[in-house]
Amino acid sequence: MAMVCLSDFEAYAKKYLPKIAWDFFAAGADDCNTRDENILAYKRIHFRPRLLRDVSMMDIRTKILGTEISFPVGIAPTGFHQLAWPDGEKSTARAAKVMNTCYIVSTYSTCTLEEISAAAPGGLRWFQLYIHRNRAVSQQLVQRAEALGFQGLVLTADLPYTGKRRDDVRNGFRLPPHMKLKNLEGAFEVCKMSPSFHSLLDPSVTWNDIYWLRSLTHLPIIIKGILTKEDAELAVRHGVQGIIVSNHGGRQLDGGPATIDALVEVVEAVQSRVEVYLDGGIRKGSDVLKALALGAKCVFIGRPALWGLAYKGEEGLQEVLRILQDEFRLSMALAG
Ligand code: FNR
Repeated sequence: MAMVCLSDFEAYAKKYLPKIAWDFFAAGADDCNTRDENILAYKRIHFRPRLLRDVSMMDIRTKILGTEISFPVGIAPTGFHQLAWPDGEKSTARAAKVMNTCYIVSTYSTCTLEEISAAAPGGLRWFQLYIHRNRAVSQQLVQRAEALGFQGLVLTADLPYTGKRRDDVRNGFRLPPHMKLKNLEGAFEVCKMSPSFHSLLDPSVTWNDIYWLRSLTHLPIIIKGILTKEDAELAVRHGVQGIIVSNHGGRQLDGGPATIDALVEVVEAVQSRVEVYLDGGIRKGSDVLKALALGAKCVFIGRPALWGLAYKGEEGLQEVLRILQDEFRLSMALAG
């Protein structure tokens, strides 16, 4: 079967993944309105194409926090890649390196940070942190990531508690016994994903904890989950270097805005003081172009990366990224 666009990978993943894994990847919170809006909102945005502008040469490279990537699409943090492919996050890291883009590694990886680093030495990686009630656990993770050469620390701010994802509740979702949250092994007695696991996260986190993180690491701090100009302003004032406009792929608060709709007010508030990125609903190269036109420096893909892994591991993910890259270049040319 020829894989032509990202929906082809979605259809493949839906057909071949175990239902419980597919449901976990696809899940949104409650009625999934925000999850679906992330995608629908792009359809309401239209280009004003300009013509006859010599598009024979195009440069689609960009820089994020000073590091060059081959095109403005990176991989958002998602947990449990071994549910999609046996080599899990090691495959993700290899694909990101081959494609010369940024991979944000989740706290909830099924491979250790050390294994991921060794799988693709020298690749551009940021580490995504959830702050645990046991602060020593979080501190140790941040310092491990920094020592391993990760180049950014992404604090996910939109998960004080886990959103209600109905299919996961119905399926009684938990990690299969042979998979582990490897980075947290030994840290807790409960080292399996279970409903009680997320309650180990600290719901009392506030803006002041950015100062705590700052005291732990020299890495640039990027905050993920911002959707309003008020929080964007607070993020800048608390000294972060980057903002990811995100609603967690619609998995947290149902009823919030599509990220592409929230982007504009965040970009306006930030006034270029820090870099602004976006994730959520990116499924085509033209979506990437729309996000860039509205002020994002780069976008990240969550579920499509998992579909690529489910299709053929690192090769499948490379294919997903290559298709997005080709579509993005074509959209740029056709939009002039
Ligand atoms: C996520 N997301 C996420 N975010 C995060 O900061 N840490 C994590 O561990 C996870 N885990 C996770 C698992 C799965 C299965 C999904 C689908 C999402 C959210 C993710 O980083 C991102 O915000 C969204 O996935 C972006 O939306 P799209 O690209 O999936 O539409």
